[in-house]
Amino acid sequence: MISGVILFGYFTTCVCADGVADVVLSCTLVDEGVGLGGMGAAFSRTPATLVFRDVPVAPDESLEMLTPFVPSSVPDPDLILFEAKVSSVEIPSADVLLHADCNEQEVLCEISRYTPHGSQEGSDPAYFMVSLNVEAAEFSTCLILQTVMAEKDPTTLVQKKLGLPLSQSGSLLTEVIFLVFSHIKSVSAPLRADVLLNCGFKQHEIPLSQEVAIEWRLQHRGKGHKVLEMRTRLDDAEGHTVVSAERRGSSMDAAQVVGEGNVSVTLSKLKVLDAGIYICTVRLGLFHAQQVIELHVVQLPNVSLSEEKLVLKTKSPQTLSCHCNKYYPLDAQMEWLSLSPTDTEPVVLPDQGSLSSHRQHGDGTYSLSSHLSVPPSVSPGTKITCRVSHPALDAPLSVSVVVQSPEADSYLWVLGFLIITVLFFYQVMR
Ligand SMILES: *[C@@H]1O[C@H](CO)[C@@H](O)[C@H](O)[C@H]1NC(C)=O
Repeated sequence: MISGVILFGYFTTCVCADGVADVVLSCTLVDEGVGLGGMGAAFSRTPATLVFRDVPVAPDESLEMLTPFVPSSVPDPDLILFEAKVSSVEIPSADVLLHADCNEQEVLCEISRYTPHGSQEGSDPAYFMVSLNVEAAEFSTCLILQTVMAEKDPTTLVQKKLGLPLSQSGSLLTEVIFLVFSHIKSVSAPLRADVLLNCGFKQHEIPLSQEVAIEWRLQHRGKGHKVLEMRTRLDDAEGHTVVSAERRGSSMDAAQVVGEGNVSVTLSKLKVLDAGIYICTVRLGLFHAQQVIELHVVQLPNVSLSEEKLVLKTKSPQTLSCHCNKYYPLDAQMEWLSLSPTDTEPVVLPDQGSLSSHRQHGDGTYSLSSHLSVPPSVSPGTKITCRVSHPALDAPLSVSVVVQSPEADSYLWVLGFLIITVLFFYQVMR
């Protein structure tokens, strides 16, 4: 059933001409079928191919290694092959798609039918929504394709599953008319800092008098709420811009929205409760698409030891505490190590002391302490280290103390006492 075009495996391939290339993607057509016996909707998944025609390529790009895309000479009505012209709307960072193959990055491509707001299903032209995601790369785009009307001709083949007319080469000709993209999938920012969550849109031939509505929502632990909403018009922002910021200290630049389609939001003075999944939805006229960005709020722990000097007592063990203060998120790990003067490598102590319970502060950060009992048997000169690992740290943080011998100190103390006593008697006897 699948022949000709899908010779390219799961990844992208392209053909080159002057400064442009074709990107071929293996996609899945997701079809929301009718529910079986009212048990909810069933989804059918069919392989499909999407070709982006004429993607601009940097002049220094070497394209010799790329396999040409050749449409099948015999159109096949079973095959689902979308051809999308992107000369109308440039796909931001499309070069990521071009190189995903070489970089062994998987391109996730899902296509589904799209019904513009308020229009009839099955009306002409037809629309499709494509969601593109390159794993391990900061590339995520959601685009709306509009079918380009093929000339009515009795010999025109019709795609069997979709019931849409095919071109001479057996493809569904489409144009990208709207897209929403993001350069980032996830961001980490420190508590109390400001952060920019990136999102943008591009459109083609949608009247500028249409309203554009941008909504940022936050999804956290199953609950969702609105962060910021802006409604404006691309032709007259001044007269039509309405903003409602539900989160205090959230903002969007209306001039950037209108001028560049940049709908990035800035959140100032981050709080622990700002962490979660952000959804950027752009509605332009009858079309809408969204992007998802995850925000992690992090705070580095402040690590300290209870003692600056650890002088052993001869009989009883000494308690050494390691305090790990005001960090976020919760997952901090503490470890005790020791390095005796005769060793070259520190060893993890078999006795890891006892952990306090987590304390949570008013700002949502946590503190944790670990208490280690240092026995009198530890040899002087041993370095005891408390090592803390936390997601906000690139490398674990360590604080150490060197154990000092009890003899030396009590010996000095006794010596001092003796000298004073001798001096005293010397004075008295005179
Ligand atoms: C939006 O503008 C900011 C600077 O204000 C920039 O850092 C960001 O990359 C832009 N985003 C998009 C999607 O154009």
